[in-house]
Amino acid sequence: MRHGFVIGNTDGIGLALTRRLLAEGWAVTGMSRRPAAVEHDRYVHVAADVATPEFPPSLARALDAAGGVDLCVYAAGVGDLLDPDDLAAQTRVLEVNLIGAARAVEVVVPRMLAAGGGHFIGLSSLADTLITPVAPGYAASKAGLSSYLIALGAALRPRGVHVSTVRFGFVDTKMAKAPVRPMMITVDRAVDVLMRCVRTRAAVVSYPRRMAVLTAALGPVARARARLGSR
Ligand SMILES: NC(=O)c1ccc[n+]([C@@H]2O[C@H](COP(=O)([O-])OP(=O)(O)OC[C@H]3O[C@@H](n4cnc5c(N)ncnc54)[C@H](OP(=O)(O)O)[C@@H]3O)[C@@H](O)[C@H]2O)c1
Repeated sequence: MRHGFVIGNTDGIGLALTRRLLAEGWAVTGMSRRPAAVEHDRYVHVAADVATPEFPPSLARALDAAGGVDLCVYAAGVGDLLDPDDLAAQTRVLEVNLIGAARAVEVVVPRMLAAGGGHFIGLSSLADTLITPVAPGYAASKAGLSSYLIALGAALRPRGVHVSTVRFGFVDTKMAKAPVRPMMITVDRAVDVLMRCVRTRAAVVSYPRRMAVLTAALGPVARARARLGSR
């Protein structure tokens, strides 16, 4: 039986993906701060905060208990908007979205290499090309995550380990906070895209395509505006 890990799965995309994997016959281990949002005989939940030092050993123990990992999806994320009087919140966004993912890679990938294969998917964002004074930590975390995972994927592919960077636009979860959310997709649609990525192991998935074109075009404009000091 294939075994998938979903990190960040008590809500949103991670929760819907967990349910889909279970429905398709996978065994799943989920990790989040809150208790399990899923009950199933093929599901194991581990309470963990990816921004704490306990996260890597806790993930290592869960991987050992599972006896192998075919797929690991890093879906943990936070998207706090900027409050200039609380920059610690921006640091926390970087810790959860970027450093937590790097720590997961550090624990999971050696096991996949030892097993001769595996698939790591990171949920980045189309915001990875933007500089936005509204959510500087979020955009920076996604820029770093995409850059890291795309490069890592190129390095690991010859050794049988696939790394996918999935870049969504707006997905209808509590994370999507912007007042205007063009081309927003449902969580089910996002899971369809992820399941296709599980099958194809594509290095980069950008969805929706038209939104990807739009954000790529907006990137230089956003940079210029930020340099000029306008929001
Ligand atoms: N929704 C969008 O529009 C959108 C667009 C592009 C990319 N994404 C990315 O997709 C991923 C999932 O987003 P979502 O929309 O599903 O968000 P969500 O509904 O807010 O869910 C976030 C998940 O992350 C977990 N999480 C947050 N902080 C954590 C921590 N410190 N340790 C462990 N787990 C933590 C949460 O569980 P607990 O609270 O139980 O810890 C929750 O299960 C994120 O990386 C996000 O940036 C989302």
